[in-house]
Amino acid sequence: MTSKNVSGLRIFLAGGAGVLGRRIIPLLVAAGHTVVATTRHEARTGPLRDLGATPARVDVLDAAALAAAVRDSGADVVMHQLTDLAGGDLAANAALRRDGTRNLVDAALAAGVRRIVAQSICWTYVPGEGPARESEPLDLGAPEPRRTTVAGVAAMESAVAELPEWVVLRYGLLYGPGTWFEPRGLRAAEAREGRLVAGADVTSFVHVDDAAAAALAALDWPVGHVNVCDDEPAAGLDWVPAFCRAVGAPAPPVSGASAPSVSGASANPAARGADNRHARRDLGWTPAYPSWRAGFAALAGDRDIPDTGHSRQFPSGRVGHSGGGHDESVPLRRKAR
Ligand SMILES: NC(=O)c1ccc[n+]([C@@H]2O[C@H](COP(=O)([O-])OP(=O)(O)OC[C@H]3O[C@@H](n4cnc5c(N)ncnc54)[C@H](OP(=O)(O)O)[C@@H]3O)[C@@H](O)[C@H]2O)c1
Repeated sequence: MTSKNVSGLRIFLAGGAGVLGRRIIPLLVAAGHTVVATTRHEARTGPLRDLGATPARVDVLDAAALAAAVRDSGADVVMHQLTDLAGGDLAANAALRRDGTRNLVDAALAAGVRRIVAQSICWTYVPGEGPARESEPLDLGAPEPRRTTVAGVAAMESAVAELPEWVVLRYGLLYGPGTWFEPRGLRAAEAREGRLVAGADVTSFVHVDDAAAAALAALDWPVGHVNVCDDEPAAGLDWVPAFCRAVGAPAPPVSGASAPSVSGASANPAARGADNRHARRDLGWTPAYPSWRAGFAALAGDRDIPDTGHSRQFPSGRVGHSGGGHDESVPLRRKAR
């Protein structure tokens, strides 16, 4: 089954103005769905309307207001695209995953919503050999600060699974317009300062448009977890130099120069990438960018919709290491004092 088989749904999109939400709305509208999209900010309601959604101003940490907003939307489906990463505070992001998701699931259940599609990440699996499959457990025993991230993901995923129909999209590291991985993004600025280090940790990427397409398709995917990432998990030794070239940064500093690339063992066995065969072969998800190599090369021509610029709002380096070669752990060299 594909999402071509469903149209005319009412969708409550929590996180409509985020980097993914604002790319998902036009896809939902074009597929014939009606979208109520949340934001906490009056200034973002206009752009949401321009994209074709009805804005709902609500903070998901306000359980009563959220319950009213979901009920009033008449939603058939709730879509969860909430993160709290613009401020670079991992604890706040984990708290939003835990408490915001709890409220959203309670609101959905109270409103009789049967289906939820939720954004998760694909780098919280237990350490292991090679890219992780969906059947592998989460790394709940990890040391801090990774433990906080994994616990937030676990709480979010288990709450979502309380609805009769649920799909958890375990995204790779997002790149493309509006993300940290674009020419004007945070990681590009760090790369130009020589602070993005090429090392052995393995990362799975996904272009933001391929991630958005998966959210649309998931409206009729079967219940379960799905790794949504490209075909080529890569060591930093491979992807960091390519990213630097793509954003006009000099060649990066290298750590562990003798470390193996792509399929080799990582310095950090939790930084292993993810296996996308379930999405590709079982569900028919076909990314426009099967590899970050072509995706990075195309970055200069990508455009955001609309560019709110809030991916660049926090001081660089504030997001620390939690394992996995992703937005919360990309190796950075500290600035000399
Ligand atoms: N898999 C990944 O790699 C991944 C995934 C997501 C984000 N990121 C990175 O994180 C950066 C920042 O993401 P972003 O620009 O989407 O911003 P963000 O601050 O992470 O916000 C995302 C969405 O969540 C909503 N939200 C957050 N807290 C909320 C709350 N308490 N109540 C209601 N809504 C809430 C925001 O709504 P408001 O309009 O109210 O702010 C926004 O729509 C991106 O540039 C990207 O690089 C990476």
